[in-house]
Amino acid sequence: MSRQQDRDNEARAILTGNDRGGYTVPTDGLYPYQWNWDSAFAAFGFSTFDVSRAWDEVETLFSGQWSNGMVPHILFHKPDPGYFPGPDVWGCDGPIPSSGISQPPVAASFIRRIWETDRATGHARLQALVPKLADWHRWFMDWRTDDQDAVCVTHPWESGRDNAPDWDGAMSAIDPDGVGDYQRRDLGHVDAAMRPTKEDYDRYIWLVQRGRRLGWDEAAMARDVPLKVADPTMTFILLRANRDLRAMAEEIGQSTSEIDAWIRRLEAGAASLWHESSAAFTARDAVDGGQEDDVSNASFLCWYGGLAAPEALATYDRISEEVTYGVPSYDPHGPDFNPRRYWRGPTWPMLNMLIATGLAEQGHADRAEALRESTAKLIAEHGFWEYFNPLDGTPAGGKRFTWTAAIWLGWASPSARKD
Ligand code: DGY
Repeated sequence: MSRQQDRDNEARAILTGNDRGGYTVPTDGLYPYQWNWDSAFAAFGFSTFDVSRAWDEVETLFSGQWSNGMVPHILFHKPDPGYFPGPDVWGCDGPIPSSGISQPPVAASFIRRIWETDRATGHARLQALVPKLADWHRWFMDWRTDDQDAVCVTHPWESGRDNAPDWDGAMSAIDPDGVGDYQRRDLGHVDAAMRPTKEDYDRYIWLVQRGRRLGWDEAAMARDVPLKVADPTMTFILLRANRDLRAMAEEIGQSTSEIDAWIRRLEAGAASLWHESSAAFTARDAVDGGQEDDVSNASFLCWYGGLAAPEALATYDRISEEVTYGVPSYDPHGPDFNPRRYWRGPTWPMLNMLIATGLAEQGHADRAEALRESTAKLIAEHGFWEYFNPLDGTPAGGKRFTWTAAIWLGWASPSARKD
């Protein structure tokens, strides 16, 4: 058996090994529940060898949807003392014990891809999911956009890029007074040098305690927001997700006019994140209006969002040339670059897949293929880790990671190539 077939088999074994029955954990130990965007990637991975199981994954995710449309970022299906903060800290009362915030809405885009693998079998399942996706996207449009129509995060965990330097300024303005004692569980699984700091965690937990105090009532929370940052991740991913939702709604004969209006608003919001001197789309503090000049890998989701954005290509090329394994989560020339610490420098294979998808769609096939090849090399040589040092490829974070296995099967592996 070839090395590539070995890797394909290993990737499938990771997905089935992380399967807890209808949902998949991102990795054993560190993340023992169902995470929102991890699950959408998992479904994509399953769709390469078990389409029905792929649908199960997203249906289980939507079984946790709140009555206001929000789909939580974590569903706590079964108690697990190995994770903090668990359901008792969040204090939410949705249909399934959950967190009170959401996560990047990649689900619609992966659901479209799953459906396209077998339209006939997926038709009824798609019909049931489209209105739920629309309710979730409406929740973002109602509660997470700013006055310039970019999509904002109100907790760093909502972005999925927890400790990205993008919100350092907004986070430092929070005084986590009264947060009390708590015990982090992540450091029992992963080296502290690869994880967010205690200063970050105090604020993460303080924000959770505040949401709980306000009963997770969006109107009450919006009255006086301690953190609201317009985020390229959220803006480009929701823009893309709305385009995919529109295509699915049209095909099954559901109305698209509301989605069309969302797309127009988000195109304006995306444009509002352009930062001239950085030649990239960057985060903006929606409370004080200040815009970051630091470039992250989320900046390069612009093409995935459907923008042509030719002026961002030179920045992408510059940053890619500075590392062995792109795309680093933060500019190696930025003042806060750290090649090991989570979203402050490491390369994330699943984000690479989204960036490469956008590059290919906007006519930059060479760059897309180069990124696929370097991501494949990283995984083939080091394994299915959560993230990697972009300078030398050293693995970091959790091992046998679901979304790394999923994007291997659906994109990075030579066997995933369609040509
Ligand atoms: C964690 O616990 O590190 C997660 O990123 C929160 O979603």
